[in-house]
Amino acid sequence: MMKKPKKLIYACQSCGYQTPKWLGRCPDCGQWNTFVEEAQDTPTRTNVHATMGQPQPINAISLDPEIRVKTGILEFDRTLGGGLVPGSLVLIGGDPGIGKSTLVLQVAGKLSQGGLKALYLSGEESPQQIKIRSERLSLHSDNLYILSGTCIEELFNKFEALNPNLLVVDSIQTVYTNALPSAPGSVGQVREVTTRLLNWTKMSNVPTFLIGHVTKEGAIAGPKVLEHLVDTVLYIEGEGNHAFRILRSVKNRYGSTNEIGVFEMKDAGLEEVSNPSRLFLEERPENTSGSVVIPCLEGTRPVLVEIQALVGPSPFGMPRRTAIGVDHNRISLLVAVLGKRMGIEMGDQDIFVNVAGGLRVNEPGADLGIISAMVSSFLDKPVDRNMVLFGEVGLAGEIRGVSQPELRIKEAQKLGFTRCVLSGSNVESCKKFKGMELVGMDSIRGLVDVLF
Ligand code: TYD
Ligand code: MG
Repeated sequence: MMKKPKKLIYACQSCGYQTPKWLGRCPDCGQWNTFVEEAQDTPTRTNVHATMGQPQPINAISLDPEIRVKTGILEFDRTLGGGLVPGSLVLIGGDPGIGKSTLVLQVAGKLSQGGLKALYLSGEESPQQIKIRSERLSLHSDNLYILSGTCIEELFNKFEALNPNLLVVDSIQTVYTNALPSAPGSVGQVREVTTRLLNWTKMSNVPTFLIGHVTKEGAIAGPKVLEHLVDTVLYIEGEGNHAFRILRSVKNRYGSTNEIGVFEMKDAGLEEVSNPSRLFLEERPENTSGSVVIPCLEGTRPVLVEIQALVGPSPFGMPRRTAIGVDHNRISLLVAVLGKRMGIEMGDQDIFVNVAGGLRVNEPGADLGIISAMVSSFLDKPVDRNMVLFGEVGLAGEIRGVSQPELRIKEAQKLGFTRCVLSGSNVESCKKFKGMELVGMDSIRGLVDVLF
């Protein structure tokens, strides 16, 4: 009997949506021209737990004390939620050239120096290239094994022979499985290879780092599907022309998310930054309008950052709004609130807002700082150098309290700030701070008097 030819389908390379017919635009994620012909895959079933066992009452389940392997790189351990959990699959994403391979090689090096046997599979670089990088990092270890290749079946063979305690796959877009005819990096391949790695990791209890490139749109190439599969997703962020790198956890089955680790890219690899606030404020301009400092919270950790704004009359009919490091829509909202509640009209002004140092600030607690920076630039008056501000601003112009005001004030005090503007509701819990003048405000109406 003749074998039935494999059915062809079209898969969106951006989100993994599948259709039997080619389409120009993906109905799921809206991207154009992303459909590529792939053979219908027969995916591996995720048999993470080989046998199902019996249902048991939750109270009867005993907990083994959690064993986490410390990598010795504190910023990295913190982002992971306190260390690496055995049997976890950790995805590390970021733009090309941001430092993914460097970071993971440093981590694997540290762990192997601590006695673990580590296997580093690279589909992008030859062993010599990795050796050159390890020389730069002054990394010497007898327990770190380098393998160049792209076939996952071969990797598993080598894995069995070597029996390591840590696996690194650099990068998921370059490895493929023989079981599928489609090209490496296609959605089908990426998903299948990740599923296999997941099974492998869970069965062998060996932690695995998976490196993934990020597309222009900022998603890990192709598959959002990847994010469901893995246990932990870390992103390395940073502006190409800044040396700071921020490692952010966006998903973590073993710890809290939104934790960040701060690094600086140096000649000898990524160096930990244990006091990021000082670093972010280092080059703060003196006596310049449009610059304010806010204490924001990144995970459990307060970080002081400088918000800069430049506001000036627009030479064109359509005023520009540019936001780097803060949400663009938030700026428009705050401009509207300023006009309505403070009578400061910026509708016809070009507005640029920037978070110095390349950090991204997503919390609403930054509102008051953003507003102050814009007003300061608009009126061309510098704000008090020793002042910090935080608070969420509502549509009625009210200033709302934010979480953990004590932590924020403590950090500001550590760096020598003496005055803090915050919401009236937050003042109560912060009275105990000596040497810090607290200015509680319930509305932005009186802000100009306080700032200048
Ligand atoms: P890399 O880890 O190769 O990036 P990725 O794997 O994310 O693509 O890092 C590449 C950049 O880092 C490269 O431009 C050089 C720089 N770099 C340093 O500045 N110092 C170093 O010690 C190393 C190893 C790299
Ligand atoms: Mg790389």
